[in-house]
Amino acid sequence: MNTPSKDKTAQMHSLPAGSVSIRAAMHFPEGPLYHDAPRPDSTTNEFCLACHSKNDIVSGLTVEALRYKNGVLAKMDPRRQPTQPHTFISGNIPTSFVDSFKGNKGAIGSGYIDDYMMPSSAGVLPTLRSLVQMQSEKVVKHVYTIDTLARNDATVLRGNTSGLANRVWFYVNGNSVAYDDAAPFELPVSKLVTGKNEVKMYVRSGSGLQNVYIYPSITVQ
Ligand code: HEC
Repeated sequence: MNTPSKDKTAQMHSLPAGSVSIRAAMHFPEGPLYHDAPRPDSTTNEFCLACHSKNDIVSGLTVEALRYKNGVLAKMDPRRQPTQPHTFISGNIPTSFVDSFKGNKGAIGSGYIDDYMMPSSAGVLPTLRSLVQMQSEKVVKHVYTIDTLARNDATVLRGNTSGLANRVWFYVNGNSVAYDDAAPFELPVSKLVTGKNEVKMYVRSGSGLQNVYIYPSITVQ
């Protein structure tokens, strides 16, 4: 009998019903790229840092390649990853570049191939993916909406957002205590009171769209 839900039979061409890809969530959680928004900041993405490093682990691959550049839309950004085609294309487009062209040579209008390969950020709200407790640039643990942490175990709480966020305001017990205009978005633990904290975060995008997140009870000991 065919029982594809058993792990041993799962493979790329026969995935059990309801399978979800977690590749993007693991490798590029700050993504996706939008043609009409800047490339997200990936300077703290451990996957990217495996190759792009400060100490030239792979010669020529820098952390600068991962940095957010305010106002530089992805389609205008001279930084192109190895799997990306040239940014500007004219003439007859190789049909293999864009599946949806289906061989239609006249399909490209703007000349910017990203307009056809990437989604638009129009109307997309910036989101908070997770809140983590950091100590000396290392993740100590994930912070839950109701949680307890020891003051000495953390220097900052870091909000990991989607790449569209370009400002995070932090409120503690109703008071605005900090904001950050560049990822990683961090709240110094010194801004938390000993005892119970309601932490509220306003996550805003360059186009002014905003989401609000509330962690009602973070107890600091
Ligand atoms: C396995 C190694 C590896 C990993 C992991 C990796 N890259 Fe790269 N990256 C490369 C190589 C190789 C190039 C091409 C360098 C060249 O063309 O000279 C590159 C180029 C780039 C460029 C273009 C740089 C420029 O100045 O033109 C960007 C942007 C970039 N990568 C972003 C990322 C991001 C974001 C991640 C993580 C999501 C990532 N890379 C992960 C190997 C890697």
